[in-house]
Amino acid sequence: MSKNTGAEDFTHYSVLLEETVSVLGVKEDGIYADLTLGGGGHSEQIAKRLTTGRLICVDADETAIEASKIRLAPYADRVTFVHSFNDRIDEILDELGIEKLDGAVADLGVSSFQLDNAERGFSYMQDAPLDMRMDRSSPLTAYDIVNRRSEEEIKKILYIYGEESFAPRIAAEICRRRAVSPIKTTFELSDAIKSAMPEKAKNGGHHPAKRSFQAIRIAVNGELDRLSDMLGKTIDRLAPGGVLAVISFHSLEDRIVKTVFNDAAKGCVCPPSFPVCVCGRKEKVKVITKKPVLPGEAELEENPRSRSAKLRACRRVCTE
Ligand SMILES: C[S@@+](CC[C@H](N)C(=O)[O-])C[C@H]1O[C@@H](n2cnc3c(N)ncnc32)[C@H](O)[C@@H]1O
Repeated sequence: MSKNTGAEDFTHYSVLLEETVSVLGVKEDGIYADLTLGGGGHSEQIAKRLTTGRLICVDADETAIEASKIRLAPYADRVTFVHSFNDRIDEILDELGIEKLDGAVADLGVSSFQLDNAERGFSYMQDAPLDMRMDRSSPLTAYDIVNRRSEEEIKKILYIYGEESFAPRIAAEICRRRAVSPIKTTFELSDAIKSAMPEKAKNGGHHPAKRSFQAIRIAVNGELDRLSDMLGKTIDRLAPGGVLAVISFHSLEDRIVKTVFNDAAKGCVCPPSFPVCVCGRKEKVKVITKKPVLPGEAELEENPRSRSAKLRACRRVCTE
């Protein structure tokens, strides 16, 4: 098991970097938020374009903050780091006395550093205690979910967050094994998952534990609930013309991003027969990526992990 947890070892290939920075259209005096700081790749590109502007960098993982402080040291005069989950964006901005943002970026999920760092317990490829917390001060770990939730709850988690069609069999196998002895490590969990799946299903393209691990990670970190909250709150804090750019990595995330953007882009919903609007609803944003932006050939070749990335962006319209 690797002991490598130091900020100095943080590596992460930033996905859709140029496309994201270009859609943000960074103004040198603007106020921006990187809602998923990670290794600081997107932040660095924003920070270097600022003069009198400010960049608020948020991450739930303290290690990401420490690593990015080193990377972003040349821009320390214009960067503020906040260790927090990003669905607290309202409180974060209030505490900093910032009313509106000129742009924000969120590059969802886990970083390569988190995945590759065995002892964080995110990966089925390396043996480690079952953890999967982005914020290591949070009380809930993957161990708690796997060993303490009911079979029904585990089934739902695997089915909803992992879209795992063998969820009932996997949940049953987890509960059968943990009745004998707690499932403590990523390899023990992966083994339970594999043994519950039919042979044919194990020979598909993905690792048999991929969907279940994703599901448990999403549950541990409350990722999807936080995502809708964060998107809604960030849209409300965008200044007119401000852009929110979001990179997602799986269909559940992308569906939420698309739904929240399309919903915020809706104006009056009164029936056409009404002579005047009574709903009072005004469009908050225009969606500026009619289709999601995907990585090009060169990026896919350089970083195969980018293959499922999708970038969507919306621009705040003036509603006052
Ligand atoms: C894919 S990485 C971001 C990489 C970054 N854009 C870069 O170029 O290096 C995602 C990061 O966001 C953090 N993260 C994910 N969801 C979060 C949330 N809801 N609140 C705060 N941080 C979150 C993770 O801890 C991780 O460090």
